[in-house]
Amino acid sequence: MEKTAIYPGSFDPVTNGHVDIVERGLNIFDKIIVAILRNPAKEALFTVEERKEMIETSLNRNSNVEIDVFDGLLVDYAKKRNAVAILRGMRAVSDFEYEFQLALMNRKLNREIQTVFLMTGLRWIFISSSIIKEAASFGGNINGMVPPIVSRKLKEKFGFITPSDE
Ligand code: PNS
Repeated sequence: MEKTAIYPGSFDPVTNGHVDIVERGLNIFDKIIVAILRNPAKEALFTVEERKEMIETSLNRNSNVEIDVFDGLLVDYAKKRNAVAILRGMRAVSDFEYEFQLALMNRKLNREIQTVFLMTGLRWIFISSSIIKEAASFGGNINGMVPPIVSRKLKEKFGFITPSDE
């Protein structure tokens, strides 16, 4: 039977750390559904549609990867999609407490879905969407930390596009 994992998140925006987790996940699972949470309560820099497009481009439209949007409970979405696992990336100890809480709550809500943690590559350990946005908002160079389309979109958002970038 095909084993599908859900890789959920805000992905505002997707980083090279996220791409790395998807690539690692594909060594374990047959299919990965990257699921973007539609969360009206949380203000985002990019719309869900922009985030979806950036992920699609960054993952080169790999046929074993699907990009989707979900709302409501993650475990309900995972069940609907016949997923056996929720995939989450772990960078450092600082991620642990929140991830532990999330995984245990999800297990309480649905015992059939396992959470699988993968370590990001060492080179992405300090990268998060938030720190990338902060650096980009002040014109910091974030090339090489995010896929090229994300770098371009961030520069556009914050008004730092220069002719050499186009
Ligand atoms: O990228 P993020 O913000 O760390 O992702 C968090 C996410 C989307 C995985 C989490 O907030 C989530 O699953 N939200 C949906 C509601 C839900 O099921 N919450 C967990 C149990 S209450």
